[in-house]
Amino acid sequence: MGRIPARENVLESLRLLEYRGYDSAGIALIDIHGKIHVEKTTEKVESLCQKTGNMPGCMAGIGHTRWATHGEVSLRNAHPHTAGSVTLVHNGIVENYLALMQEMAKTGRVPASDTDTEVAAMLMDCLYDGDPVVALTRAMGRIEGGNAFAVLFADRPGEIYAVSRDAPLMVMHTQDGSFLASDAVALLRYGETMAVVPDNTVVRCTASEIRAYNLSGQPAQLRYGNACWTASDVELAGYSHFMLKEIHEQPQVLSRKMDFSSVPEDVLRDATDIRIVACGSAMHAGLAVKDYMEEQTGLCVSVEIASEYVSGALRHVGKPLFVFVSQSGETADTLLALKRAKSIGAKCICVVNVRGSSIARAGDYVVYTQAGPEISVASTKAFTAQVVALALLARRMSGRGLSLELEYDPAALAEKALKQENAIRRIAEDLSCAENIFYLGSGMDLALAREGALKLKEISYIHAEACATGELKHGCLSLVEPAMPSVMIATGREGLGRSLTSAEEIRSRRGRVYLIVPEDAKIPDGCCDGVIRIPTASGISAAVPVAVCVQLLAYYCALKLGKQIDQPRNLAKSVTVI
Ligand code: M6R
Repeated sequence: MGRIPARENVLESLRLLEYRGYDSAGIALIDIHGKIHVEKTTEKVESLCQKTGNMPGCMAGIGHTRWATHGEVSLRNAHPHTAGSVTLVHNGIVENYLALMQEMAKTGRVPASDTDTEVAAMLMDCLYDGDPVVALTRAMGRIEGGNAFAVLFADRPGEIYAVSRDAPLMVMHTQDGSFLASDAVALLRYGETMAVVPDNTVVRCTASEIRAYNLSGQPAQLRYGNACWTASDVELAGYSHFMLKEIHEQPQVLSRKMDFSSVPEDVLRDATDIRIVACGSAMHAGLAVKDYMEEQTGLCVSVEIASEYVSGALRHVGKPLFVFVSQSGETADTLLALKRAKSIGAKCICVVNVRGSSIARAGDYVVYTQAGPEISVASTKAFTAQVVALALLARRMSGRGLSLELEYDPAALAEKALKQENAIRRIAEDLSCAENIFYLGSGMDLALAREGALKLKEISYIHAEACATGELKHGCLSLVEPAMPSVMIATGREGLGRSLTSAEEIRSRRGRVYLIVPEDAKIPDGCCDGVIRIPTASGISAAVPVAVCVQLLAYYCALKLGKQIDQPRNLAKSVTVI
């Protein structure tokens, strides 16, 4: 809000946040008389732009893109929601919404939507006696769960209020006015200095200033800092998709220095084992580094799916040291698992990309992966940065004073792998005709096979499954049909012979095999249907070039099939619901 028209600003911000995935969108503008104008769509932000063409010029407004949780995708469920003098947008889940809804029903309020959000608007309206800060602080005292709200009050035309707990919220003030968002990407075009709003802090934004209050209504301090990202980081820069841009950024990303100084050198002193907890690609990064971390630390390392870690008793024989990995730092499953680990008094290291994110703030020690903003839903540069960060963390934790460098330079390996782009594109075109694809590997290569299969499923919608190379003959081989492709990753010299035997088993059933092997690997002529050669590197270092190759395979496959690469159906970039 401020000195520039709110409609255009809010719509442009929503456009910038489209990458996060959404199924409906909406905007509310407040004019100088306190009249609130709301428009919504169940289509793309572009359609909201068209629908709002005749809205009056207002200097204050809020907007939202919704990813449905409570209630179907519909106009009445899209945000903003209004109750009395309150109009708000919301991220998160009001966990006690049923109880609150019953309470609101007793006050005669009737919901107009199926959402948990509307009850928050009703509650704030119910608690509003002319002081927005009081209404918001009291409401936050009643609302359970991780939530952020941006709120307009009809009798406060020049003001926007916001509050959050365990959900991202940041603010920025410039000569053009005050801006707030749940994602720094929406703010970067106004400047680089912003403040992450601390939990349970209410902010009041006007054209001339931003004020903060704690839950007792007392003035609070906001700490402004540099976002580290710039507006140009979130532009396509000539690439056709953010995914391709981000794949190509890997050499640059992996050459950045990561700072491990927040992790004490004796962090393992009392630890009996290490548990890496994460979701999706971040979890695969953990799997890829597991063996290396065991080697370096001498401790047993387990890798857990965060969503499997949130209920039931937390098994903790001994004193586990936890490592939480997340690109966004907002993944609800990971955040919840982190809170459970903290509740048993465990030490938690967080390996995160987004600065100031909820996971970064909740851990004991944080390491930033420095990958820059990742816009494509399919994680690429963030994944390889996580692998490198975890490998370097393992060295730091080894306590042997090892230098924080891997045997091979990951940036150079990524650069060399990108040189295979044309060969990979040709193989991807073969893969694009398949209905089912196996990704095979052993040890670290199995983790990369999982990542390759996930990437392919995510953006091409082809069914892909990862299987341990040696396990194929114990069941999955029955699925191999003539022409069905398998991508076999074999980076280690020792395992190559066994991989080639499995390749034979597939090919003798007329399946097709594409190998990903080091450039110096000796493979017999005619043993496969295509080869991708990665630069020679041993151990954990080989993860980076393999990851680049499977990312390009998925990208070109989806491109050939004409899929929506950066925003695949049904998925959100940052999964802030459990
Ligand atoms: O932001 P996070 O790293 O916590 O996200 C975890 C997963 O949701 C994420 O890696 C997801 O699997 C990616 N879309 C995969 O490409």
